[in-house]
Amino acid sequence: DWRMDSFVEESVKQIRHKVGSGKVLCALSGGVDSSVAAVLLSKAVGSQLTCVFVDHGLLRKNEGDEVEAVFGPKGDYDLNFIRVNAQQRFYDKLAGISEPEEKRKIIGEEFIRVFEEEAKKIGAVDFLVQGTIYPDVVESGLGGESAVIKSHHNVGGLPDYVDFKEIIEPLRDLFKDEVRKAGLKLGIPEYLVFRQPFPGPGLGVRIVGEVTEEKVRIVQDADAIYREEIEKAGIAQGIGQYFAALTNMQSVGVMGDERTYDYAVALRAVNTVDFMTAEAAEIPFGVLQRIMGRIINEVKGVNRVMYDLTSKPPGTIEFE
Ligand code: XMP
Repeated sequence: DWRMDSFVEESVKQIRHKVGSGKVLCALSGGVDSSVAAVLLSKAVGSQLTCVFVDHGLLRKNEGDEVEAVFGPKGDYDLNFIRVNAQQRFYDKLAGISEPEEKRKIIGEEFIRVFEEEAKKIGAVDFLVQGTIYPDVVESGLGGESAVIKSHHNVGGLPDYVDFKEIIEPLRDLFKDEVRKAGLKLGIPEYLVFRQPFPGPGLGVRIVGEVTEEKVRIVQDADAIYREEIEKAGIAQGIGQYFAALTNMQSVGVMGDERTYDYAVALRAVNTVDFMTAEAAEIPFGVLQRIMGRIINEVKGVNRVMYDLTSKPPGTIEFE
């Protein structure tokens, strides 16, 4: 796509001009927007860039290591990658909290604290990179639906807290599909470029009620099985977004001849055009049964698996 060729070239030129010899800081989540922004910046200003990746302990199974493998020192890019393992800090802050908006707020604020601390260590940051894309610009301007229903947490909310001179938003004019094309152009692996959306507060909004380390382990393991089986069944490309969530319900079951009293996992899969409305995806029943069987057998603490049929509206895609 020639437009993306020239987008990359033009952006690199503009960024170099703007940044000069300044220091640039980027919060990298491993999502497509921040990844493309980071690699673009690296191409433009090389070692003047530092990328901070905060592992808040609410990532999908192995996700922290996967992000590090691609963007860390052993990966293909030169990002001055710093991984902050802040899991325990987030778990401590979230202990005893079950109200969804309060959870979102705590995760968002703690994220900023951690990022701020890293920024201080680096010192005298001139520019902050944001992976803002065109739909984000529109949404915040008009107070988009999701802003009202849920307080969305993105690395987008940082600027007030970090001492820096200017923001760089290289993807501000692009739609998602253009960001993906730019990502491919920059050589970012396809599985990252075509990744499903993953909310900033991560598994925090896929665990209904209080977040505990045990619940994080359950939802990570169930979700990993779910994704693996959907891919094996060859139907991943036909589904907009899918993931496992942990309900806050425990119920009675039987395993062998033992009574159990364990959690119910909910499987969510939706098709959607713009994530403002969505419908439950039709997954073949046999595939669902296989997933159920594996989750019950392999994930300790789960004795029931449900499939969420709810459209958006009235449901939202995430659980909180
Ligand atoms: P909902 O649950 O509002 O989700 O129907 C719509 C889409 O947005 C994603 N989502 C988020 N993305 N920060 C994000 O970056 C957030 O706080 C957040 N909450 C929801 C969700 O995964 C879905 O794709």
